[in-house]
Amino acid sequence: MRKHSRRRFIVTASAAASVAILGPSLFDASRVFAAPLTRRDIGGLSASDPIITGYKTAVTAMKALPATDPRSWSYQAAIHGTYTAGAHTAWNTCEHHTKFFWSWHRMYLYYFERIVRKYSGVYGWTLPYWNYSSATQRQLPTVFRDATSSLFVPNPDRPNVWNTGAASLPPAHVDTSAGMAQVSFYPGGSSSLESNPHDNVHIDIGGASGWMGDIQAAAQDPVFYVHHANMDRLWNLWKAQGGGRSDPLSDNAWKNTLFTFFDENKTQVTMKGCDVLNAAAQLNYNYEGEPAEVTETCRRIFFPPWVLQLVELVRWPGPPVICGPERVSIPIEIKALRQRMLSAAQSNTQTLVLKFDDVEAERQPGVVWEVYAGLPSGKEPDPESPYFLGTMALFSTGVRTKMGHDFKPAEFEFSLNRVIANALRTNADKLEVTIVPSGILINGKRSQPKVAAPAKIARVSIAIENQQKR
Ligand code: C2O
Repeated sequence: MRKHSRRRFIVTASAAASVAILGPSLFDASRVFAAPLTRRDIGGLSASDPIITGYKTAVTAMKALPATDPRSWSYQAAIHGTYTAGAHTAWNTCEHHTKFFWSWHRMYLYYFERIVRKYSGVYGWTLPYWNYSSATQRQLPTVFRDATSSLFVPNPDRPNVWNTGAASLPPAHVDTSAGMAQVSFYPGGSSSLESNPHDNVHIDIGGASGWMGDIQAAAQDPVFYVHHANMDRLWNLWKAQGGGRSDPLSDNAWKNTLFTFFDENKTQVTMKGCDVLNAAAQLNYNYEGEPAEVTETCRRIFFPPWVLQLVELVRWPGPPVICGPERVSIPIEIKALRQRMLSAAQSNTQTLVLKFDDVEAERQPGVVWEVYAGLPSGKEPDPESPYFLGTMALFSTGVRTKMGHDFKPAEFEFSLNRVIANALRTNADKLEVTIVPSGILINGKRSQPKVAAPAKIARVSIAIENQQKR
């Protein structure tokens, strides 16, 4: 017994000695840091910041590992999605447009960050986030544009317009307002933040054929992870607003479903929703500048004070709507519904919603559509106008050619509350819904969007979402 503990002591001492000689890269990345490590805004980091140089070092090292090593760059990307055949533990397991969108990506990033930390050689390395909500950060962050660095991906896997810095994200494509206003996860789904900005950023950067636009390839691009760090931050910010916003703590599947990953020592690990409720307390990281985190616990069963119930008012009777390169208009008959719609939109417990169901395309359209209601004829669609509802893009769902994951059609929900009074300003019997493809900004100007494949919307309807007291 004595001998055993003495041996252990010797091992520890020699490990410590080699750390001192060989530098910080041998620090155990899983060690407990005293205070939460802070994930930083990439916009504030210079190219020589250890966060950036460490990321480059780690990407190079991870690419050099054999593909069978779960810490290798290709294996990590394949956990998200891959076209490579073969069944390997945890491959193709990403969750999109399900209730696990937030939690699964948090777990994925958590282990990815531990692996990068180990290979970065930087003590306490953290994943930076790309804050495209800031108007000065809508181009690809500069460190990803340096063709000599491991953070670079050449055309066409990452289109040249991004690598040259010519392209930027249109403000309407990174508009978090609808998602932040939402008070709960969609039943069975995630959040409209997954659509805008998450899916839009993927499609804007990847287009129809770049990696970022394709879930099977996206995580091969090092920019994927800074995009997702920002999404993870938005999850915290969403909850921090209060007003009943909470994770679905009454949902046992959400809390207890186990997902599989690998840590920095190649050890297979599992995690569940209950393990990732509080990033700072449970996972030991926070975000630069974020408000105090809301503390949740799985021991407390939380039911939101309301249930959401959807009542359909009217359905477009026409054929499926085909969205191609041209603008399309859908005149929805609302003659008998005007008053009901207006009062729903003004009520505190109701939301008037426009729904698109069973949306699909044969392959990645590579474009983000803007959706308007009541746009006056002859008026150019402008997302700053009071007719703008939101955006539609197909990333993880609705695209037929994806392998690995089962096909699932996409659905979209837009709140009409804000625009309906304007949209109904004339006494017309119809509410005109307009869908128009919108391109990324090139040198600050809207570009002509290229629609690689049309999207088909099988059902367009208007419904009232009631928040009913339990
Ligand atoms: Cu799992 Cu941004 O994708």
